[in-house]
Amino acid sequence: MGLFITKPKNEFPETRIGTLPARPPIPAKISLENVSVRFDTRQGQPAALENVSLSIQAGEFVCLVGPSGCGKSTLLNIMAGLLAADEGQAFKDGAPITKAGPDRAVIFQEAALFPWLTAVQNVEFALKTVRNRKVRRERALEQLQMVHLSRFAHSYPHELSGGMRQRVAIARALALDPDVLLMDEPFAALDAQTRDLLIEEVQRIWLETRKTVVFVTHNVLEAVTLGDRVICMGARPGCIKQELNITLERPRAVEDPDTARFAQRILANLKDEIAKIVREESDYVEAERARGRDGDPNRVLYPNAGTMGDGI
Ligand SMILES: Nc1ncnc2c1ncn2[C@@H]1O[C@H](COP(=O)(O)OP(=O)(O)OP(=O)(O)O)[C@@H](O)[C@H]1O
Ligand SMILES: [Mg+2]
Repeated sequence: MGLFITKPKNEFPETRIGTLPARPPIPAKISLENVSVRFDTRQGQPAALENVSLSIQAGEFVCLVGPSGCGKSTLLNIMAGLLAADEGQAFKDGAPITKAGPDRAVIFQEAALFPWLTAVQNVEFALKTVRNRKVRRERALEQLQMVHLSRFAHSYPHELSGGMRQRVAIARALALDPDVLLMDEPFAALDAQTRDLLIEEVQRIWLETRKTVVFVTHNVLEAVTLGDRVICMGARPGCIKQELNITLERPRAVEDPDTARFAQRILANLKDEIAKIVREESDYVEAERARGRDGDPNRVLYPNAGTMGDGI
């Protein structure tokens, strides 16, 4: 008996059976294509970033780690639109990034709060476009509640601890309801306990809001605890050396043994990078001394080169 293939009956005559027209692919939330940045310096230093390509999906938490001077802040500034690439292009939702915008909130190491405004007024500042004062106040208080600072809403920045100030800065950034949060070593100036608390807090906020986050840190444990993906950068020229997907379940804690295990893998890679920088610098000092430009063998040219903060 022959095999008959019957043509499928179209039960919905208003639709056509067959392949659906191909939908255009959803662009990444942030992407960088072959981005290079060179700063004009007297020393003629290598590129701060060379040929960096990177794609960050909506809702992803990406951490950037790497030795001092490898271009982490430069990369973040490109995404923020605070700096233009010399070559290549950065995109947000497929559109070229040409300037800063409220869709990309930046949080720096030092909380840049207005000292003459209270915590809630600082957050309200981000809500300038909300005309109704009552609504504006309610929204600002909601954001402070999100970072557990309701009790300190009417305190001035000088009355708050460093960790609390940073939480106000986070609340202010969240008040903008940005698509993307760009954080440049936001906890670097804090003591270890406060930092661990804030790591928990940022992770909880991210789980609630699912914002796209790019988080720069020196601290590998911090990166592994927070990131879906950790991107390790190398210096001179600034480039991406390695990417690691962190598959650990959430919520994670800094002290989890699994977190430490992932961190070890990243550290092993970064240590080579740091050793390379230290080697280059001692070669540079030698060369300068040989040329008779610098007679002081103890001069420290790049004091941070051999360290990566307390994460290493
Ligand atoms: N405005 C500038 N003018 C000249 N050179 C700059 C400027 N900004 C950054 N650089 C250089 O670009 C390189 C990358 O700097 P960047 O600040 O991005 O590094 P980083 O990884 O954020 O370092 P750190 O961990 O110390 O903050 C460094 O060599 C730095 O000296
Ligand atoms: Mg930096």
